[in-house]
Amino acid sequence: MKTSTSLAILASLSGVSAFWRMECRGRAGLARIDPLMNPGGPAQHAHAIHGSSAFSATSSYDDLRNGECTSCAVTEDMSAYWAPGAYFRHANGTYEEVNQVGGMLAYYFLNPDMKDPNKPIKAFPNNFRMIAGDSTRRNYTIDGLDVHQPDPAKSDWGKDHETTQVDLAQRALGFNCLNYHGDAEPTLWRHYLPDKAFLDANCLDGVRFELAFPSCWNGRDITSDNFKSHVAYPDTVINGNCPEGFDVKLPGLMYETIYDTAAFKGIPGEFVMANGDVEGFGYHGDFISGWKEEFLQAAVEQCTNLSGRIEDCSLFTIRSEDEQRQCKLTSPPLIIEKLLGFIGDILPGGVEISRGPGPAIPKPHGAPAPIPLPAVSSVVPGLNVLPGGAFAEKSTSEVAPTPSSTSTTSTSTSTSTSTTPSTTSTPVPSDPPVPKGYSLVRTDYVTKGNVVSKIVVIETVKYVMAEATETVTVTATRGTDKARREVHHMHQHQHRHHHGAH
Ligand SMILES: *[C@@H]1O[C@H](CO)[C@@H](O)[C@H](O)[C@H]1NC(C)=O
Ligand SMILES: *[C@@H]1O[C@H](CO)[C@@H](O)[C@H](O)[C@H]1NC(C)=O
Ligand SMILES: *[C@@H]1O[C@H](CO)[C@@H](O)[C@H](O)[C@H]1NC(C)=O
Repeated sequence: MKTSTSLAILASLSGVSAFWRMECRGRAGLARIDPLMNPGGPAQHAHAIHGSSAFSATSSYDDLRNGECTSCAVTEDMSAYWAPGAYFRHANGTYEEVNQVGGMLAYYFLNPDMKDPNKPIKAFPNNFRMIAGDSTRRNYTIDGLDVHQPDPAKSDWGKDHETTQVDLAQRALGFNCLNYHGDAEPTLWRHYLPDKAFLDANCLDGVRFELAFPSCWNGRDITSDNFKSHVAYPDTVINGNCPEGFDVKLPGLMYETIYDTAAFKGIPGEFVMANGDVEGFGYHGDFISGWKEEFLQAAVEQCTNLSGRIEDCSLFTIRSEDEQRQCKLTSPPLIIEKLLGFIGDILPGGVEISRGPGPAIPKPHGAPAPIPLPAVSSVVPGLNVLPGGAFAEKSTSEVAPTPSSTSTTSTSTSTSTSTTPSTTSTPVPSDPPVPKGYSLVRTDYVTKGNVVSKIVVIETVKYVMAEATETVTVTATRGTDKARREVHHMHQHQHRHHHGAH
C-alpha cells in the first residue's frame, strides 16, 4: 500500500510539470460583451477580451471557429477568454483605464487527478463553457483565515477542512505584486488586490492578476446554468484530487494578465475592476472553448514538453506577435461608450464601486446612458482599440485621433543583464533608455531557449510623417541546468516568470 501510494505521487508529480502557455499578445477588445452572463445584450461591466475575433454577445461555437483570426498565438485555438478590465479612479473621481501589459497568458496545465494519476486528461469538448470566480463577491471567507496573511501550507488545507469548493474558488484568485528586482511572489498566493500605498511602495512593475479555473469535470455537461456546477476544483486548486462526481480531468486553465498599476505610482486614487471591485475578491473570468476537441485531445496527449513553450509542440501553428496584436473583434459595438484612456467619472455600464463585505448587487437594468463619444470614424470598426493602446493618446485628447491625422509608430527595444541567475533569482534586465519623444507602452518578457529577453515597447505619435526607429537587442543567458529548472517549476510554481511568463 505504502509503495503504491508513493508511486502514485511520483507519477502525478511528473504529470504536474507538463503544461503549455497560450500566449494571447493581442487584446481583441475591451468591451461590455459577455455571451454567457448577458447573451444578446450589453454586459454588466467591461471585459478585456482575448481570442477569436468573432466573439460577440451572441457568438456560438461555430461563430468563434469561423472568426477571421485569434488574438492568441495558436491558429487552431479559436477560444474566447475574457475577464473584467481595470480602471484607476483619480482623487477627483475621474476614471482612467489601466493598461494591460503584454496581452494575456492562458496556462494549460496537464495535471492528472491525483487519485487516479494514470487516467488520461480529456480535452474540452467543443463549445465547453465555464466561469471561474464570482463577480459579486466582496469578502474572503475561508474559516478562521485572514486574507491579508499568507495561506497555510497546502498540505494543511484538508486537515483544517478548508477545501470546500467555495474555499478553493477564493484561493483560485491571485494578485501577484511584481517587482522584477526582488523575489517573485508565489502564484495564487495573495488573494486580494493590495491598496494603492502598498502597490506604490512594492509593486514597481505592476500587478499580475491570476485566475485558475476548475479542472475536474462531471464528464457529461458542456456547461451548466451558472456555468460552474458542471466543474469543480481539485483540492489544491491547480493540482490534487478531484471531488466525487467530477472524475474527468480537463486541462487546468489559468489566466494571467499584468496590469500596469505602476504607471499611477504617486498619483492619489484607487484601482477598481470594471465590476466595481476594489479588493479583487470579485475577480472572475469566462471561457468558451473554440478548439476542435479532437485536435485539442491530440495536443493534450502529445504536447508534453516540460518547457511549457507552445513552439515545442509540433501540432500548433504559431502566429506572430504582430498578427496576434492586429486581431480585433469584428462585431460592431452594441453601445458606443468610452472604455479607453480617461472615461469620465462613471465606470462603463454605470457600475458603482461596492466595498463589501456583503455581495455587490448589480443594477438590474437602468444603467445610466453611456457617455456618448463624438463621432470619430476610427472608433467604429474593431471596437475602440487604438494602435498601441491608450497611453499614446492620453496626453493629447480623450478622443481617438483619426487615422488620417496621425500615424503611430512603434518599435521594440530589448535589453538585459549579463548575470547568470540561480534558480531562485530572476534575471533582471534593466530598461533601455526611452528616446526623447517616445513613451513607454509596455514591457514584455520573451523566452527563447535559455535566453530571457526583456522587450520594452516604445511608441510615439507623429503627425503624418513616418518616424525612424531604432532597435537595440541584448540578451541574458539563463542557467542551463534544465532538469533542475523543471523540478523547480514543479515545486515552486511561483517562480514561473523565470521562464518568461511575461
Ligand atoms: C481629474 O484628475 C486627473 C488626474 O490629475 C486629471 O487628468 C483630470 O483632468 C481631472 N479631471 C477633472 C474633471 O478635473
Ligand atoms: C523540448 O523542447 C526543447 C526546447 O525548448 C527541445 O530542445 C527538446 O528537444 C524538446 N523535448 C522533446 C522531448 O521534444
Ligand atoms: C461574504 O460573501 C458571501 C458571498 O458573496 C456572502 O454570501 C456573505 O454574506 C458575505 N459575508 C458577509 C459577512 O457579508
